[in-house]
Amino acid sequence: MTQLNETTLKELVDRIFGDLGGAFSVPLVRIGDDLGLYKTLKAIGPATAEEVAVAAGCTPRYVREWLAAQAASGYVHYENGRFSLTPEQAYVFAEPDSPVNLIGAFDTAAAMVGNQAKVQSAFKTGEGVAWGDQAGCMFCAVARLFRPGYVNALVQEWLPALDGVNAKLKSGATVADVGCGHGVSTVLMAQAFPKSQFTGYDFHLGSIAAAKAHAEAHGLTNVQFEVGRAQDFDGSDFDLITCFDCLHDMGDPEAAASHIKKALKEGGTWMVVEPLAGDTLEENINPVGRLYYSASTMICVPTSLAQETGLALGAQAGEKRLTEVIRSGGFTHVRRAAQTPLNMVLEATW
Ligand SMILES: C[S@@+](CC[C@H](N)C(=O)[O-])C[C@H]1O[C@@H](n2cnc3c(N)ncnc32)[C@H](O)[C@@H]1O
Repeated sequence: MTQLNETTLKELVDRIFGDLGGAFSVPLVRIGDDLGLYKTLKAIGPATAEEVAVAAGCTPRYVREWLAAQAASGYVHYENGRFSLTPEQAYVFAEPDSPVNLIGAFDTAAAMVGNQAKVQSAFKTGEGVAWGDQAGCMFCAVARLFRPGYVNALVQEWLPALDGVNAKLKSGATVADVGCGHGVSTVLMAQAFPKSQFTGYDFHLGSIAAAKAHAEAHGLTNVQFEVGRAQDFDGSDFDLITCFDCLHDMGDPEAAASHIKKALKEGGTWMVVEPLAGDTLEENINPVGRLYYSASTMICVPTSLAQETGLALGAQAGEKRLTEVIRSGGFTHVRRAAQTPLNMVLEATW
């Protein structure tokens, strides 16, 4: 038998125990979110398990076990028989607009597990799994996953980083948000720039219905949503076209790039927000790369392979490859205008 290095083995098993702690926490974190347990803890902590259970309208025995698991995970603070959230724990689990609210990531993890059977069989056939056929509400999970990043950076940092775009948006521009999903980004921009007109396009009917409901809930009149594919959506003469975390999901992102160029006015701008990644696997062997490659295997690559051409760029395509795709559409200038720990913002013009 091969000689095992005991130290290396122990390090690996210890690390996997930590990882499994996160994986086992997925349903617990989602229960805590759905049943308002984190919000209750934030409101009344430090509190006993019984007090938390009563305030949240839940059964004490379950809440006690849940709190014990959360304390052991370090997601909840425990001291002298009472549970509470530290400000940092509240920032991650109980504040929807915090830049590091990570509940959407746990929702996405659950959807990825639900997607296993379809993706696993696609490994054998080479076929895709269409966005509309993904497990559970993958779309809701993804919208929630990206929302904190957009809420905290899109209007504050990303749009101002583009050359001359903010001034146009303030005075009144026409904007298309292509691959808009549930329209989180579209609605944020429409709220910030009331003189501009926004149209969100996505090829997934369910997402467009959710986006319309989202805009109506905010009472916005300068935003509309239409079902449309990135490679041939209606509409032209846009000052700005945006693509948030979706170019790499498209089957034919080069056809999308060509169509987007044609749909822009002379002097218009394409803003491409993509996951932050280096150009090589070596550069992406890190915690963020690990998350994105996993999500890409279960969501992004199957989504692209389910479409015509099926280029399957993957979520970690990197700036060099993305720039080639963007340039193939006729854009002559591509630059990284901004970045956050999870996203890069590319500005494309010609
Ligand atoms: C990861 S989601 C991102 C959604 C949204 N932009 C966001 O950031 O929350 C990718 C989106 O791309 C859309 N999509 C993929 N391929 C598309 C295509 N060829 N045309 C239009 N939309 C597409 C999917 O329906 C999905 O809504």
